[in-house]
Amino acid sequence: TDKQDLKGKKIVVTAGHTIETIDPVRYITNHSSGKMGFAVARNAVQRGADVILISGPTHLKNDTGAKLVTVKTTEQMYEAVKKSYVDADIVVMSAAVSDYHVIRPAKQKIKKTGSKLTIELEKNIDILKQLGQEKGMQKLVGFAAETQNLLENGQQKLLKKNLDLMVVNDVSRSDIGFGSDENQVIFMRPNKENINSPKTNKDEIAKMIFDLITEE
Ligand code: PMT
Repeated sequence: TDKQDLKGKKIVVTAGHTIETIDPVRYITNHSSGKMGFAVARNAVQRGADVILISGPTHLKNDTGAKLVTVKTTEQMYEAVKKSYVDADIVVMSAAVSDYHVIRPAKQKIKKTGSKLTIELEKNIDILKQLGQEKGMQKLVGFAAETQNLLENGQQKLLKKNLDLMVVNDVSRSDIGFGSDENQVIFMRPNKENINSPKTNKDEIAKMIFDLITEE
């Protein structure tokens, strides 16, 4: 049996990828399967929390015990997170959020006429950075998906987004990160030493996240 150290806590977890429409048949996205976020939600439920799991499109079955809210775009994910933020105790942004959306998605399927095609993109809101700016009593946990300079990039995002915990993973590896059952991460906190996790399953990484965030 798990310790009920998150009993009475309201926790918001995001998972999976968001998508941005190009035309009625095509979209932009990334490789996130949702496994990491679902593992985070599952662990929080096991420890007694009231959990809202906001996920992009995923093939995963919701066996987490969390209340699932599904969204497609970054804008929709932002709206869903915003609704639950004010009275949340902890927010964990495990989702791989599209940083850009297509400025004018085509109403009809784009024809392959020219030899080149340009699609113009515009920046999306940075959900986590926005939450960081509005932070009150909430604890904010982010993930950093990096392919190089993990320490530098993770540290920068920890500070820029005003987080309490940053979970940095190397998404250039196929045995951890996107789609895999395992992960290996560096935990970063403001004014504390970094902690390197072993390579282990995502449920174990999720457990470490809540162990660290409830430590203080
Ligand atoms: O789903 P899996 O297949 O299990 O894979 C897990 C994972 C690799 C997706 C996960 O471990 C992970 O790294 N998630 C974060 C992916 C990401 O978007 O990282 P980022 O470094 O681009 O963003 C940093 C943080 O800001 C993230 O917490 C992200 O959710 C958030 N963000 C990013 C962009 C944006 N517009 N809004 C955001 O809130």
